[in-house]
Amino acid sequence: MKTKTKSGNVGYAVVGLGRGMDHVRCASNSKNCDLLAVCDINPETFKKLEGKYEADTYTDIDEMLKRDDIDIVSICTPSGTHAELAMKVAEAGKHAMLEKPFDITLDKIDATVKAFADKGLKLGLIFQNRFAPANRKAKQLIDEGVLGDLILGVVQVKWYRTQGYYDANGGWRGTWAMDGGGSLMNQGIHTVDLFQWMMGPVKSVFAYTDVVAHNIEAEDITAAVLKMKNGAKGIIITSTATYPGFGTTLDIHGVNGGICMKNNDIMEISYKGATQEELDNIMKIYGPNKDIEFAVASDPSVINRDTTHVQIQDMIDAVLEDRPPVIEGAEGRRSVEIINAIYESAKTGKEISL
Ligand SMILES: NC(=O)c1ccc[n+]([C@@H]2O[C@H](COP(=O)([O-])OP(=O)(O)OC[C@H]3O[C@@H](n4cnc5c(N)ncnc54)[C@H](O)[C@@H]3O)[C@@H](O)[C@H]2O)c1
Repeated sequence: MKTKTKSGNVGYAVVGLGRGMDHVRCASNSKNCDLLAVCDINPETFKKLEGKYEADTYTDIDEMLKRDDIDIVSICTPSGTHAELAMKVAEAGKHAMLEKPFDITLDKIDATVKAFADKGLKLGLIFQNRFAPANRKAKQLIDEGVLGDLILGVVQVKWYRTQGYYDANGGWRGTWAMDGGGSLMNQGIHTVDLFQWMMGPVKSVFAYTDVVAHNIEAEDITAAVLKMKNGAKGIIITSTATYPGFGTTLDIHGVNGGICMKNNDIMEISYKGATQEELDNIMKIYGPNKDIEFAVASDPSVINRDTTHVQIQDMIDAVLEDRPPVIEGAEGRRSVEIINAIYESAKTGKEISL
């Protein structure tokens, strides 16, 4: 596909220079890509570029979007602003790469997906953990049916964040209006996304939430039980109050076996019919103590654990090849629907159907 730049490379811009600095780094290290512009309402953030990255700076997205050489705009601002800013990007006829969560309400998500589809523009959504080799392997094995019918999925995101984290940058984190929730919407969403990607659609949820260790509006601890459409059951636990932080686990069980993962590595795997050699090889490639030489020989992607970079390169390639990105924006609706149902259940004390 023809790009808007004279070089023929994809012209890239990034809005919001917190997490957005990772997008800046990835775009400038990507093939066939020119980082052209960054935008942040706080000009102090432009100091982060000094001596490392060349890009024109803007404090107003509307000004930046007037440029005719930008193809893709990454949106890395507080979560409750993503859809509104993405709509401006669509209006300007450019593709967008949104940070998770897509936004915090389904209405805003649906309107944004429609705006990009109507204009034939590409909309990508960052869920970088789907690019982690162990998660891809688990998904492949589950889809091949080696675990048999799924019966149970368990998510635990036991992290810790200080009060200072919530108070920083205008205090948007942990607010309903800008974060759309607390530990579940901001931190837990990555693993909620992996859970639904591997387990399938959710039928209903029942949950308790609480705020136990921070002065914030939304929760810092969530415990939810789920029924899946395929009959399986699920448990989702997330927290930013579990001092000092214990990492992320995701366990998927079927009638014929299970896969237990921690921090995007396979920790245990066993299923009927597998030879010990097969299981040992999986652990050598995708386990925590991987034998890197052996692993890379079997799966070259194991070497690139910079999953955000892999995903941003995929978006750039999608524009050049005129194909959809691996994770399209619409995929981001699923996790937000589950999370908002969990919050609704905690608020009403009722089981909520999706
Ligand atoms: N994928 C991941 O692993 C990951 C990690 C961290 C954050 N995030 C997501 O990235 C987003 C940003 O989070 P953060 O922690 O970087 O927040 P942050 O507060 O550190 O950074 C946000 C930046 O956006 C700027 N900003 C706000 N409104 C703006 C606007 N209208 N136009 C231009 N700039 C604007 C702010 O000045 C700030 O510099 C959130 O949606 C968060 O969920 C994703």
